[in-house]
Amino acid sequence: MEYSEKVMDHFINPRNVGEMEDASGVGTVGNVQCGDIMRVYLKIEGGVIIDASFKTFGCGAAVATSSMATEMVKGKTVEEALKVTNKAVAEALGGLPAVKAHCSVLAEEALQSALWDYAQKNGIEIEGLEEPKETPHEH
Ligand code: FES
Repeated sequence: MEYSEKVMDHFINPRNVGEMEDASGVGTVGNVQCGDIMRVYLKIEGGVIIDASFKTFGCGAAVATSSMATEMVKGKTVEEALKVTNKAVAEALGGLPAVKAHCSVLAEEALQSALWDYAQKNGIEIEGLEEPKETPHEH
């Protein structure tokens, strides 16, 4: 399977690239197999994600899925953001080749990890959100 036009678009012109100084939550995850690392920043006000950005050191699909995932969560509540799963991201991109499915999993994990960080910092619980697993590529 070839990459869809949407994947190519988000790879070549990724949205929301960059660090965020005043992020409410930051999540960093890595995939041990490919060594790719993804960091997602969320700015949350009143339970709503008002801004999202990312930095990804990884393959083209990892860049495209982080770009799409950050686009999809903007304007959503933290609960709604949990529905931005790897499947939802891959679908929004018009599909991913099977060998690249784990790249969208990384995007989901980075997102959830940033939400977890936000919840921890604010002493709140987000229904349906589980503590992310430690990732060996954090440092
Ligand atoms: Fe690992 Fe894409 S090859 S995130």
